[in-house]
Amino acid sequence: MAYGRIPREFIDELLVRADVVDVINARVPLKKKGREYTACCPFHNEKTPSFTVSPNKQFYHCFGCGVHGSAISFLMEYEHLDFVEAIESLAESMGITVPREAGGKGPSDEQRQRSKDLFTLLQDASEFYQLQMKGSDKAVNYLKGRDLSGKISKRFGIGYSPAGWDNLYKPFLNNYPEQQLVDSGLVIKNDEDPNNVKIYDRYRDRIMFPIRNRKGQTIGFGGRVLGDDVPKYINSPETSVFHKGSELYGFYEARMHTKKLERIIVVEGYMDVIALAQFGVSYAVATLGTATTQDHIKQLFRAVPEVIFCFDGDRAGREAAWRALENALPMMQDGKEIRFMFLPDGEDPDTQIRKIGQQAFEALYGEASSLTAYFSENLHDKFNITSDEGKSRFIQEASKLLQQMPDTLIKDQLVSRLAKQTNIEERVLRKRLSKLQSTPRGSSERNYESEHPFEPSQPISRLSNREVRQTPIRYAISLLLSNPELVQFVENIEQIVLSELPGSDLLTTLIETIQESPKINGAALLERWRNTEFEAPLIHLMKWQPESDDESVLRCEFEDCLRHIRKRANEIKVEKLLHKERTGGLIDQEKQELLFLLQQKDD
Ligand code: CTP
Ligand code: MN
Repeated sequence: MAYGRIPREFIDELLVRADVVDVINARVPLKKKGREYTACCPFHNEKTPSFTVSPNKQFYHCFGCGVHGSAISFLMEYEHLDFVEAIESLAESMGITVPREAGGKGPSDEQRQRSKDLFTLLQDASEFYQLQMKGSDKAVNYLKGRDLSGKISKRFGIGYSPAGWDNLYKPFLNNYPEQQLVDSGLVIKNDEDPNNVKIYDRYRDRIMFPIRNRKGQTIGFGGRVLGDDVPKYINSPETSVFHKGSELYGFYEARMHTKKLERIIVVEGYMDVIALAQFGVSYAVATLGTATTQDHIKQLFRAVPEVIFCFDGDRAGREAAWRALENALPMMQDGKEIRFMFLPDGEDPDTQIRKIGQQAFEALYGEASSLTAYFSENLHDKFNITSDEGKSRFIQEASKLLQQMPDTLIKDQLVSRLAKQTNIEERVLRKRLSKLQSTPRGSSERNYESEHPFEPSQPISRLSNREVRQTPIRYAISLLLSNPELVQFVENIEQIVLSELPGSDLLTTLIETIQESPKINGAALLERWRNTEFEAPLIHLMKWQPESDDESVLRCEFEDCLRHIRKRANEIKVEKLLHKERTGGLIDQEKQELLFLLQQKDD
């Protein structure tokens, strides 16, 4: 079987054939209301339905919490699948096999096979360690000493690597090539001295915690000493199947154990996750000795609306919390919540829950700081805002951080909070912030020219979920997303290109894409821009509802947009030519063009 990329045409076709209404209705019963369907949103708690599904656009959107997307996105959100899994699931429900391109960027057959073998090897190792645990009084007593129940040890697959240099290496060499044992991270090969190559087990005399991925496959291990030796923990190195920055210890077990996860608590250690689970908090995960990454947060938000970070109350804990906050800022969305809780000095979740029990532990969440509170308190502690200079540095620093945040209600609230805190009038603060932030940033930002007289230069890529003025280009894009067939009324695409108006690139690419695949729908179009800077603005424009769904009205509106664009393009051209005439003079051809344009202008 080949495992290249899934061809784009297949995804388009799938989204044209699948009906988002059927996909959602099978999981969340929908009611017809006008030209759309509604239900109470499955992604947040509500009593009156604000979740709507548009059969026309093949798109869903919740006015309450802001979730939105295609049938694929729905499956990703609702069933916690990744992109490829969602496509596979959708195709399967329609009795279609997912084709794969030969070669491509995806892993080759050989690579797939190698990973598969690695998974088998790691699973074998996990079973081996668990068996060794049974045979070792010393290891069993250690777990008993830490009050771990047999049931919980089993759920987490805890094992033991015996003392000695080749307990695993030797028997495993019968079934696996040496190189693979090294690749898995279980065996270390030291060949610094070619005359004396040493090969030995990485884990010796340690309690073994298997780390599993979202499918439950073992991808690595954490190993703890039984006594006080250092290092206390050894983790698997990065391998082809183990990437610390994107794995969360306990995530799989949490998912397996809790049917509908509502929140996740992020803690620091293996033993914390396990002790919490033993005491009933079966929704804890830990990062693997690294800071919380954006990838971690993305995965957490995909699974639950509420994430609580629980750190030790010491300096290291506070630093870890701040790192987590910094990485969370760009990932924030309305409808998602992050909180920070700090334990009393000297406690970690393991010791704390054993002391106070599940109920009291969960009650502590109530005292946790919200993201906005923690943000402002922390900055407040850093700068002395009683002086004007301190206040200015405070605002500078806040601005740097705010800049990374998408435009959300949470961000608004944060700004209000900062205004109160610094005693700066909110209006003044917002103006200051937008000044600080209007300096150019990374190269991925596009620099559109001002679209005067419509809207000041707001790049299309920065459109967000808030009120945005309709401009002809934006409205044309929005109309095309809900009614791609309008593309037939585009007469002269050159004019749009040449207009150089903000968003004209996106509009032309959109038009060309529809011209290439005339049957495509809005949802499939959206998939083309998944994970690009245009995803958010397209989703935003997708939510605009045309006044009518009468074909002739839509056509009129669309043609009206095109006319406006053309007119504005001419105006810009005239301005340019007039300017040139005044400063350097025009050549004959330009003079004629100007004359022609000026005549048109009067039409
Ligand atoms: N850690 C690590 N390598 C180390 C020390 C710690 O990877 N040398 C990671 C482990 O994931 C560990 C977490 O950081 O679980 C927290 O470390 P620490 O608080 O020192 O250990 P505990 O989790 O409290 O472990 P225990 O209760 O077993 O002492
Ligand atoms: Mn501990």
